[in-house]
Amino acid sequence: MSVPQRHHRPAVHGLPATGAPCTGRAVATVPPARHRVRFTPDLLDPADPALARAGGPPGPRLVVVEARVYELYGRRIHAYLAGRGIDYEVLVLLAHEQLKTMDSVFRVADRMEYVGVSRRGDPVIAIGGGVLTDIVGLACSLYRRATPFVRVPTTLTGLLDAGVGAMAGAADHGRRGNRIGPYRPAAETLLDPAFLATLDRRHIGNGLAEILKVALIKDRRLFELLERHGPVLLDGRFQDRCPGAEVLTRAVHGMLRELRPDPREHRPERLTDYGHSFSPTVEMRALPELLHGEAVCVDMALTTVLARRRGLLDAGQGERILRLMRRLELPVWHPLIEPLTLGEALADTARHREGRRLPLPSGLGRGVFVSDLTISELADSASELRNWAAEERAAGGVRA
Ligand SMILES: NC(=O)c1ccc[n+]([C@@H]2O[C@H](COP(=O)([O-])OP(=O)(O)OC[C@H]3O[C@@H](n4cnc5c(N)ncnc54)[C@H](O)[C@@H]3O)[C@@H](O)[C@H]2O)c1
Repeated sequence: MSVPQRHHRPAVHGLPATGAPCTGRAVATVPPARHRVRFTPDLLDPADPALARAGGPPGPRLVVVEARVYELYGRRIHAYLAGRGIDYEVLVLLAHEQLKTMDSVFRVADRMEYVGVSRRGDPVIAIGGGVLTDIVGLACSLYRRATPFVRVPTTLTGLLDAGVGAMAGAADHGRRGNRIGPYRPAAETLLDPAFLATLDRRHIGNGLAEILKVALIKDRRLFELLERHGPVLLDGRFQDRCPGAEVLTRAVHGMLRELRPDPREHRPERLTDYGHSFSPTVEMRALPELLHGEAVCVDMALTTVLARRRGLLDAGQGERILRLMRRLELPVWHPLIEPLTLGEALADTARHREGRRLPLPSGLGRGVFVSDLTISELADSASELRNWAAEERAAGGVRA
């Protein structure tokens, strides 16, 4: 409802004259965050209209495809778009963590300008991993006060996290990850696990770390499925319906359930932030050594030890978690897990989350929030974890 401005004397350049009472009203300027996520197997089958119809009425489309994905699926993408009679333009973009920059964002914006993408109508389609979908999301959020976009994640991390979160669009700045970005939701996200068939083993493991996060903090059954089938999932790249489909569905639904009450991700206390307390700093400082999920796993290994030392996990549960991480071929330790980096990471996360509490596992599949971590507690946990990893390595473990 509008409350008219009342000026007792004429306003000059839109400002009330001196002494006039300032009246006005709050104006809601942020559009509601609506965002649809759905599984769409066989997405590139021209018989399936899902991609052609996603995000808006039929019309011309700019399709931004990550370079490796284009090598593997370019022919099928062209066949799909041509087969559905779409007037389209493809931009092939090299996208990896070191290229998550504003330069990449501007390359997408340049092409949007070149093809004359209209502001409200034709969505841009992003097909690729989390880096590509974040870059396109940011370009679309900035271009002409926001252009709709559709995400088609092609990595496991993308399917679970980068593709499922309602807030999409970010670039790195300086030594900080994802510092620039309005986090505006995609119009629609289409999940097709068939893309995982070509993903390399390390990136499957990388995504499994995010699944493990959901399992540890929210879903005991998911943890048990990973214990039973983790190595098979690594080998089979989620192409077997059983157990791949159940694991993926539980993990995606776990993420969505957590995000649903807070689509804009403003609530600072979220269980799915587990594994993301120290990892942002470690990941950026270790670049390009650790992938996102690997840094998350190192964070979870540290906080598993910490939770066990606090009595939130018993010794057997702590051991099961660390052993599962190793069976998923994920690192459990890194030289940056040391007091100085951990202290800085904690301060940065506390600032980012406005001092709110951090999640820790409490038993398998449950979490609690704490606000009283100390540097000495972190240092003791780090040193215990280092010893565990060293013993494991000496005993012939996979990778620390
Ligand atoms: N927006 C969010 O909510 C959110 C959430 C989690 C993570 N992220 C971001 O996601 C990024 C990590 O994403 P990622 O792990 O997908 O990494 P990525 O985008 O770098 O992709 C990993 C590699 O996989 C290749 N690739 C992609 N799809 C493939 C396929 N189907 N077959 C073969 N190779 C393929 C790519 O060429 C790339 O080299 C990080 O920058 C992180 O910040 C965003």
